[in-house]
Amino acid sequence: MDQKLKEEVQSRKTFAIISHPDAGKTTITEQLLLFGGAIRQAGTVKGKKSGKFAKSDWMEIEKQRGISVTSSVMQFDYDGKRINILDTPGHEDFSEDTYRTLMAVDSAVMVIDSAKGIEPQTKKLFKVCRMRGIPIFTFINKLDRDGQEPLDLLAELEEVLEIDSYPMNWPIGMGKGLLGLYDNYHKKIEIHRPEENGGERFIDLNEDGEIEGDHPIKMSTLYDQALEDVALLNEAGNSFSEERVANGELTPVFFGSALTNFGVETFLNTYLDFAPSPTAHRDEDGEAISPYSDEFSGFIFKIQANMNPAHRDRIAFVRICSGEFDRGMDVTLARTNKKIKLGNSTQFMAESRETVQKAVAGDIIGLYDTGNFQIGDTLYAGKMNVQYEKLPQFTPEMFMKVNAKNVMKQKSFHKGVNQLVQEGAIQLYRTFHTEDYILGAVGQLQFEVFQYRMLHEYNAEVVMTPMGSKIARWIKPEDLDENMSSSRNLLVKDRHDQPLFLFENQFAMRWFADKYPDIELTSLL
Ligand code: G4P
Repeated sequence: MDQKLKEEVQSRKTFAIISHPDAGKTTITEQLLLFGGAIRQAGTVKGKKSGKFAKSDWMEIEKQRGISVTSSVMQFDYDGKRINILDTPGHEDFSEDTYRTLMAVDSAVMVIDSAKGIEPQTKKLFKVCRMRGIPIFTFINKLDRDGQEPLDLLAELEEVLEIDSYPMNWPIGMGKGLLGLYDNYHKKIEIHRPEENGGERFIDLNEDGEIEGDHPIKMSTLYDQALEDVALLNEAGNSFSEERVANGELTPVFFGSALTNFGVETFLNTYLDFAPSPTAHRDEDGEAISPYSDEFSGFIFKIQANMNPAHRDRIAFVRICSGEFDRGMDVTLARTNKKIKLGNSTQFMAESRETVQKAVAGDIIGLYDTGNFQIGDTLYAGKMNVQYEKLPQFTPEMFMKVNAKNVMKQKSFHKGVNQLVQEGAIQLYRTFHTEDYILGAVGQLQFEVFQYRMLHEYNAEVVMTPMGSKIARWIKPEDLDENMSSSRNLLVKDRHDQPLFLFENQFAMRWFADKYPDIELTSLL
């Protein structure tokens, strides 16, 4: 790869923001987009109050429920870097979508509500980042409100998530008493509401780590308290190590308030200093493919239909893992070995989608899809012949029988089901012989979204009959004898025609294991 292209790749910062719902992910995303000039007005991303809807919330259902269902991509330039933020749904029922998105990023920002600390969804998402070994940066939000003691928050982070932390800055007061941030890393104080507190926004610290001379903030006991805490941390806490950050072993912690835009810019600047450029992705044999390889390659981590209801389009999101994408280039789809011309592509800015001519490793592009692609597909140019590692898939736990309400609408029913299944929105199974449709999901909301989208996007009303929770276990086709099936272990096939049983409960599974001790059953994640 030539030097210029290499520099292009190095300028990419591709990350996801993870959090429990309501911690402030949308608000902070919006601030970042504002800094990048990608939006001009607060409330463009979020804006429940202003009546506008979130740019990252493409679907009507998200507006209705006030949760972000799908992951979206926002790209902007800042300080000589090209930033790709991948949004992730916070609600746990959509964690599969989020997990796949996390496969496409090089680092993650974890937003924590300072009053609530580590919440269940944060913990889950954190685990996936940990599994991938990507660097994790922590932003403790809502400092403008009274929250938990900062030392307690750090202790919780270390205990619950089992990761070492290094506070890059430290709050001086909080809530109504918030005076500023003690920036331990840059040796500065960032003043909250400078207009009320001496005028300057940043004050350099002297060699003793204190403000030189007089300043109103020094009159406060909160300042003394912050100095004491920082001294304690510097003495007894972890030391900063860029290497440990890069390995995902140490999380730099920043405090701030996304809503009042306090500490966010400092966070962004420091984050960009340490966030990794595109890193190597592994192929299915575990071999790392360098992002600087000459040839283009990438994988599809998400497919979304009807992002623009006016156009009824379907977009496959590709994470470019190596080389350069040129509009109109020929690539091979690894799964089928078919050659495809990538003529119809798009990139994602906050306010609009634009045709993309060129993109490099680290970038996310969207390809208009006419049914060629599946989630997890690899695309490559030339003779690269790569297949990237499998994306994580969850074993569904809840099942529903599904039928078209109106038999006259069978065609749109089948089209809708197939498209939503290819998107990965829900899993589809069919019974042996009778080919009845059964949907599988990880969370109840997936069914509701399915039903809603079938009606609004495909004009197909569906009848869903709950089957309750089941334990899905796959059996090797060569081991299968259809007589193994009973009312307590329904035999079905997945969309790749692989057979599996839906066990009524643990008891039914144990009974099966006793009866067929030599049969090995498998699950997904
Ligand atoms: P999410 O995407 O992680 O779910 O969180 P989101 O940004 O939507 O924020 C959730 C709520 O928390 C919002 O309030 C938002 O205004 C508020 N919030 C975010 N950051 C801060 C902060 O730094 N300080 C304070 N005090 N609040 C913050 P809401 O009332 O639920 O929504 P809205 O009516 O303001 O839109």
